[in-house]
Amino acid sequence: MENNKWYKEMCVYHIWTRSFCDGNGDGIGDLWGVLSKLDYIESLGANAIWFSPIYPSPNADFGYDISDYKNIHPDYGDLDIFRELLEAAHERGMRVFLDLVMNHSSDEHPWFLESRKSRDNPYHDYYYWRPAKYIRGRRIPPNNWTSHFEGEAWEYDEQLDEYYLHLFAKKQPDLNMDNPRVREEFKEIMRFWLDMGVDGFREDVVTFIAKTPGLPNAYPRLPAVNGLKHFSNLPKVHDYLMEFRKDVLDHYDCFTVGESPITTADTALRYITEGPNQVLDEMIAFSHMEADCILTDMVPRPFSLHKLKRAMSEWQYKLADKAWNALYLENHDHARVISRYGSERYRVESGKMLAAMYMLQRGTPFIYQGQEIGMTNLRLPKVELYPDVSTQNAARIASHLLPRSAVLKLIQRGARDNARSPMQWSAEPYAGFSTVEPWFTVNENYREVNVAAQEDDPDSLLNFYRKLVRFRRDNPVVLYGDYREHDPKNKKLYVYERSYGAARLLVVCSFTAEQLRFDAPEGFSLDRSLQVLGNYEMNFVIANGFTTRPYELRVYLME
Ligand code: GLC
Ligand code: CA
Repeated sequence: MENNKWYKEMCVYHIWTRSFCDGNGDGIGDLWGVLSKLDYIESLGANAIWFSPIYPSPNADFGYDISDYKNIHPDYGDLDIFRELLEAAHERGMRVFLDLVMNHSSDEHPWFLESRKSRDNPYHDYYYWRPAKYIRGRRIPPNNWTSHFEGEAWEYDEQLDEYYLHLFAKKQPDLNMDNPRVREEFKEIMRFWLDMGVDGFREDVVTFIAKTPGLPNAYPRLPAVNGLKHFSNLPKVHDYLMEFRKDVLDHYDCFTVGESPITTADTALRYITEGPNQVLDEMIAFSHMEADCILTDMVPRPFSLHKLKRAMSEWQYKLADKAWNALYLENHDHARVISRYGSERYRVESGKMLAAMYMLQRGTPFIYQGQEIGMTNLRLPKVELYPDVSTQNAARIASHLLPRSAVLKLIQRGARDNARSPMQWSAEPYAGFSTVEPWFTVNENYREVNVAAQEDDPDSLLNFYRKLVRFRRDNPVVLYGDYREHDPKNKKLYVYERSYGAARLLVVCSFTAEQLRFDAPEGFSLDRSLQVLGNYEMNFVIANGFTTRPYELRVYLME
């Protein structure tokens, strides 16, 4: 495997524009706001930005329902300000990636509006339209699949007497990628942005873009996401991605990362193994985001460090000499990680520990807005106050099983809205995000948790992130070293080592407030190595080990 690819030394900052920074005073984050914060992003050491979708969208799923793939949502700006931002980013040596949603469009996209006009409309076959079935006069959908966001996966259209498929919300009809015209449309869209200077794409639920021919029923019938085996990781996904690669991506110096829910490392390797069959540079894994839940964030279980370590190590080991990891702990789809895997009581300590835990592994780190200052979950008093369509769906399902108070708790804990509250820039009103009331609630902890308060504090989480990003960038052992986990059965400590030539890096992470004795692994001498990172002062070593403090982190380098 070669280490000569630029994305292997990159660090990505992920922006969910609506809640990042409001530049024009209407309460909604926008590209003027992003432009005003480029210095900040650069100061973190990040050298790339990934934007969640900023295209025109009716916002049924906040941008993931796109009504025009070649434009900018008027809430966020226009193509001129986007070009200006792109140029300003490039001047700073930063790459810019857009989110490309190919599995579905908005039902307000002109393709879909055309497609529903008649069965012989040239756009009809852009989507999965299927005739209704009638059994004893009762109308039933074409198959028994269920959507991720809104009940059954089919929505009926009276005029056509047909149903269309939507694996997500009703306003997100699935595109028929088997239709070569649809693939040509996406090649055009990719070229449009790449020609403008965009450096690549994060490809939304890309492992879903092919479906079993004939769209058969799925058995056994599952209570949720029924039909998965018929729309996840089908062989055609690779074919289509190869076609995009050969016809478009190979002609540009660009980067692609695919989002792949419910995909194992073995399956991911089909797409990302370096060599002639590679169709994506990296994959966004999900298994490590399931250490405190079962498959979805809305089916909670107590946090298990064992589950987390197993998932992370699995991707580290399996990809080792074959492919490159995408490393992350937060994005716009998950609750804040300190509230999940760390401790709000030990917010700064656990925030630093978690940061080092994932960022010192092998791969490209992604940092999600607000993660670097330790933003935590919101606790809104009513379920109705959470705007996300999938949150409302989960609440509806849960309310059949649980009392109201338990539903609220579930939502407060698991909602993706937790990651979508306005970025906390300062202790000013509305957290300095806007001069007027923002579109969504600001977390009430903004007076203590904000960028301004952390800028000048050398021990702040923000400054720790800065140090960490630079440490990674400057140390080949972090960039390219081999990964090895120690003591995998330990339920409270995550210990791993990276090694590269004569350099060995030992990362010790405590996931508990308890005091525990840690002994360095054989052959690693803490006395003969240098402690390069940590989250406490005064770090004694006794008999090649130490007693951990709450959520302690220590990183030792031996050369
Ligand atoms: C991806 C996105 C998520 C979106 C879904 C449907 O999982 O990250 O935000 O709701 O796809 O597009
Ligand atoms: Ca605005």
